[in-house]
Amino acid sequence: MIYADYAATNGAPPACVREAVARYLEHPGNPGRGAHAAAMGAARAVLDARIRLARFFDCGDPAHVAFTSGATESLNTAITGLIAPGDHVVTTLYEHNSVLRPLYRLEAQGARLSVTDGSAAEIGAAIRPDTRAVVMTHASNVTGEILDIRAVGRICAAHGVPLIVDGAQTAGILPISMREDHISVLCFAGHKGLLGLQGVGGIAVEGELALRPLKVGGSGMRSFEREHPAQLPEALEAGTLNVPGIVSLSAALDEIGRRGLSGILRHERALADAFERDVAGVGCVRVYRNSGRARVGIVSLNIGGMDAGRAADRLFCDYGIQTRAGAHCAPLVHRHYGTDSMVRFSFGWENTPEEAAACARAVVEIAREWGEGGRI
Ligand code: ALA
Repeated sequence: MIYADYAATNGAPPACVREAVARYLEHPGNPGRGAHAAAMGAARAVLDARIRLARFFDCGDPAHVAFTSGATESLNTAITGLIAPGDHVVTTLYEHNSVLRPLYRLEAQGARLSVTDGSAAEIGAAIRPDTRAVVMTHASNVTGEILDIRAVGRICAAHGVPLIVDGAQTAGILPISMREDHISVLCFAGHKGLLGLQGVGGIAVEGELALRPLKVGGSGMRSFEREHPAQLPEALEAGTLNVPGIVSLSAALDEIGRRGLSGILRHERALADAFERDVAGVGCVRVYRNSGRARVGIVSLNIGGMDAGRAADRLFCDYGIQTRAGAHCAPLVHRHYGTDSMVRFSFGWENTPEEAAACARAVVEIAREWGEGGRI
């Protein structure tokens, strides 16, 4: 079996992550809900993760890192918490539905959207006096293309427009500095490049930007007040936190530190580049990517007119290769390329050059059969 679906979820949580979670589960507690050993132990674990993540993303204040169930909840919080129906928003065609659908809901209520090609030039040109935010992904989950958030951040800072970044595909893979990249709100998933458990993620807020919370409720403090606390991180953390998931992130950051961010990116990109090189010569294989942009370890393609789902089934059933076919919840990328589905290979740290080569051989074989059948 070859797992090539790291963009969907990390296929191999490191041993140190599994061990840290198992250790925590021997004595779980509810942080902020008591002063006994278990509650305090959990509170310390959560604080430790906040401090580490703030350092990792260069966020000015650890209290401004709040934990969520994942990138989708973080993006919904950032978008609906900042943007009002009368506002203008700039975004890109590379966005996942976790950005687009909250934006479309606001659009239906009167917000106006400008959808750009993700370049700093087009984003800058789209900013208007009534622009409330720029919302953009750091890298496409379909094509793997990296967008230049730092260049966009500079433009946003010059216009005083908050920049919301979807780091789902890059946190733990590309360096992110909230302060140097001028990111106002960073949304991240725990279970992809960050190597943690599924069901945990976070939102980091730079400076004093106030976000209306998506949910309100118990916070373990000021229980007699009718309003949910406005201070971070509690403002964005109603209800019991996913402490096992949060513990997994601390352990995962240790592992990422051992591997080194630059080594992780180099490895994943080298596999994607080699794979793309090996399949690119086959006439009916089309790889979708703007080659002028750097990439993470993702390659999406189609084999002639073959249904992408069928190609992914063949890859799995005949070659044991696990990929993701379909629209990948990113409809505008497909509209851009005139497709409704693709087969996505996404490589991770555990993949080897031999595995990437085996993936390419499988694609070449399937493509050859497709071609021999006279189908283009
Ligand atoms: N958004 C995830 C993906 O791209 C699930 O597969």
